[in-house]
Amino acid sequence: MPKISVMPKNIPSELLQAFARAGQDHVFRFWNDLTDPERDSFAAELREIDLREVAELAATRGEAPFRGQREPAPVVRLGEEPRGTPRTLAAAHGHRLITQGKVGVFLVAGGQGSRLGFEGPKGCFPAGPLSRKTIFQLHAEKLVRLRERSGASLPWYIMTSQANDAETRKFFESHRFFGLDPRDVMFLPQRMLPALDTAGKLVLQSKGRLFQSPNGHGGSYAAFKQGGALADAQKRGIEQLFYFQVDNILVRIADPIFVGLHALSGSEMSLKVLSKTGPEEKMGVVAIEDGQTRVIEYSDFSRAESEARDSAGQLIHWAGSIAIHMFDLGFFERVAEGAIQLPHHLAKKKLSTIDTEGKPTEVDGIKYESFVFDALPSARKSLSLEVARREEFAPIKNKTGVDSIESAHALYIEEHRRWAREAGLEVSGELEISPLAALDPEELRERLAPESKGKRSGSVLLDPDADGKVRARSSALC
Ligand code: UD1
Repeated sequence: MPKISVMPKNIPSELLQAFARAGQDHVFRFWNDLTDPERDSFAAELREIDLREVAELAATRGEAPFRGQREPAPVVRLGEEPRGTPRTLAAAHGHRLITQGKVGVFLVAGGQGSRLGFEGPKGCFPAGPLSRKTIFQLHAEKLVRLRERSGASLPWYIMTSQANDAETRKFFESHRFFGLDPRDVMFLPQRMLPALDTAGKLVLQSKGRLFQSPNGHGGSYAAFKQGGALADAQKRGIEQLFYFQVDNILVRIADPIFVGLHALSGSEMSLKVLSKTGPEEKMGVVAIEDGQTRVIEYSDFSRAESEARDSAGQLIHWAGSIAIHMFDLGFFERVAEGAIQLPHHLAKKKLSTIDTEGKPTEVDGIKYESFVFDALPSARKSLSLEVARREEFAPIKNKTGVDSIESAHALYIEEHRRWAREAGLEVSGELEISPLAALDPEELRERLAPESKGKRSGSVLLDPDADGKVRARSSALC
């Protein structure tokens, strides 16, 4: 954008000087057109801008494509006993850590449901195939049940963004936190980062507002510290954090085997992976690059690399990350304190802006994000655990097709049918098990009431009753 010709009046002088020094004073072009409250809010936005960081972003060219050879990373395979730590021992240790109140839960929910065509926070999307419970409710009820089972409070830290923070808080409040104690739920808005045009200039979204977007889930670390969660977790004696994404309705929150394996192996950051459906599946892959274990986003893999197979015909880079992690709190803190720096990833986009007349237009620009998994190479030790797709991965990302509402519902129902079958109930129609009823097949086996066993047709919901037994209800009655 060219320099401003008429110098606007009453710009706070420290702001004007700072932005002029940084070559960014074009942002004041429409200052004279703004009302007093608009000026106040724009000045407040500009005061939050770290101009040194903007200069760094403008100088960022993005990572050059990796030209070397990436090796598959070691993974604890399905059904395999990890060296030195039998799964039963890991599960017992994980249970112990949860019961002792040493495990916290971190959810990243800063994104909007735009790919889904859903207005508002994705967590508010009605995802229960029969119950229509929202994604937030399904996650919250898993925590309610975990709390009932363990007697521990498991604090839940939820990262939001400027776009959805108020709505998310209101949603939880209006649903009385789905049975959780509000003191155990903390919302952490992530920072925004300004987008830049191709000349490295800040972009105006409107006359009194910059074009900014959330700083990526790599913003989790800073949001955790700045939002007061780090201090809260330390006060509670939390040692380990379970991290997950909002979109996966089959997530096993704080699954004891994962918690236990991560802790007993002395890992600072761990991840769950599964076998990709094929080279084209859009997942980050865990691999070794230049001797370091990393998650490499699918877009950073060449086609040849994604398609490479071994002599047995298996994909070499098969291990897709489902973005479920365990973190040692001390490691999380080191990243939050800035001792470990995350790189910025660039996304070239058309940005909605205004022209010199103030009319809406578009400009070629760049959005910047950091990724939570880029801390992995800095972990002194890490562990990758393979899990079964059907048991733990049903993401809702798209409206139709792959990773859609339909596919997630089908996976959710199928997995719940399996749990029911193992507990002695055969359902021919659709089935949904409330998280309040059971968190795993073993628990359903223990809790399913004898009169609910056998064969049933039609759609069935399994819910717990006041006596603690889980009973089948026809979903038409709900
Ligand atoms: C993500 C992973 C991919 C992984 C896949 C598994 C990235 C870049 N890729 O892809 O490696 O295999 O999930 O399902 O993450 N979020 C924020 N703030 C932000 C951006 C995102 O909180 O600024 C949250 C979203 O709310 C969501 C999660 O991060 O919970 C993932 O974001 P999304 O952009 O949907 O990643 P995917 O492309 O699905």
